[in-house]
Amino acid sequence: MLKNDLFLRALRGETVERPPVWMMRQAGRYLPDFMKLREQYDFFTRCRTPELATEITVMPIRQIGPDAAILFSDILVVPQAMNIEVEMKPGVGPWLPQPIRSAADVEKVIVPEIQQTLGYVMEAIKMTKRELDNEVPLIGFAGSPWTILCYAVQGQGSKNFDKAKRFCFTQPQAAHLLLQKITDTTIAYLKEKVRAGVDAVQIFDSWGGMLSPEDYPTFSWQYIQQIIDALKDEIPVIAFAKGCWYALEDMAISGASAIGVDWTCAPETARKLTGGNITLQGNFDPTRLYSPPAEIRNRVHQMIDAFGKDRYVVNLGHGILPDIPVENALAFVNAVKEYKTP
Ligand code: CP3
Repeated sequence: MLKNDLFLRALRGETVERPPVWMMRQAGRYLPDFMKLREQYDFFTRCRTPELATEITVMPIRQIGPDAAILFSDILVVPQAMNIEVEMKPGVGPWLPQPIRSAADVEKVIVPEIQQTLGYVMEAIKMTKRELDNEVPLIGFAGSPWTILCYAVQGQGSKNFDKAKRFCFTQPQAAHLLLQKITDTTIAYLKEKVRAGVDAVQIFDSWGGMLSPEDYPTFSWQYIQQIIDALKDEIPVIAFAKGCWYALEDMAISGASAIGVDWTCAPETARKLTGGNITLQGNFDPTRLYSPPAEIRNRVHQMIDAFGKDRYVVNLGHGILPDIPVENALAFVNAVKEYKTP
């Protein structure tokens, strides 16, 4: 039995004393202890070594105190398992030496056996669950097929992912074949994560907002929907799509347990678009954590009042930035714990 099940209760839509809180990218560079490990081991070594992944996952739980842990890993371990080489270059970010640009390239992409290629993630989950000792639930995650395609085709981060979009709009058949291969892999991967012990899963569509409202259902949402359909009877699924307020209405009727909201959408608007019945997660502007702690506290309380304390998971609208002072991250989490219904 979990000692703190606030997060899972909010995902089920139950009435809670206060909303749960966690932060996207909560295990990251703003933590001095993370930086120490970063000096010793490169990024994918940290992902592939269960002892290191466990230590990093648990770090923010001990130091900041959120109501859920999220496994330290990366969305890009999935394309790696699919025979697409991915490096993490310091100062550059994700780097793919041979991006996918043709139907022939897509043919070479495999739908892998999960234990064989990503077994280290399952080991990290089991070890983390033991280390957490039922203190808080553990979230597993995957990138959306569209967001993975963005990196696989563009070959690196981008302001507009123009090469990824050009590939979709000039070679749609190859693009859909690739998206389906990523979807099939992601479903198998998340099912293994459930078997290994995660308590909820989140799908990150970080680059969904690169698509127009017309193209979003075709190139992104239909694949996320397949993943939700395959998982929703086994585990709560959270769908987070950055920049996609226009898709909130469809997302609300997808069978997901919760929908992530970024900071560009007002809480009232998000509630209106999603019909008021589904759990929402978000949406503090990550750069607002630069504000002094007292102001963070006030704004967090205002945000909870605007979303309502029930059917709500407090989070940022995207990942925490690396130069946020630890005490400001603490102020964010503590503000939620101090929240009293008006
Ligand atoms: O949230 C967590 O604490 C769990 C761990 C997590 C990481 N990546 C660790 C990480 C999660 C959930 C992710 C997901 C991820 N990875 C996404 C989706 C979420 C989002 O932020 O939009 C994306 C787009 C990626 C791809 C990726 N990995 C990028 C763009 C980068 C940043 C590169 C840079 O130099 O800033 C990474 C690296 C990465 N993944 C870091 C962490 C903590 C930074 C690693 C480091 O520099 O040591």
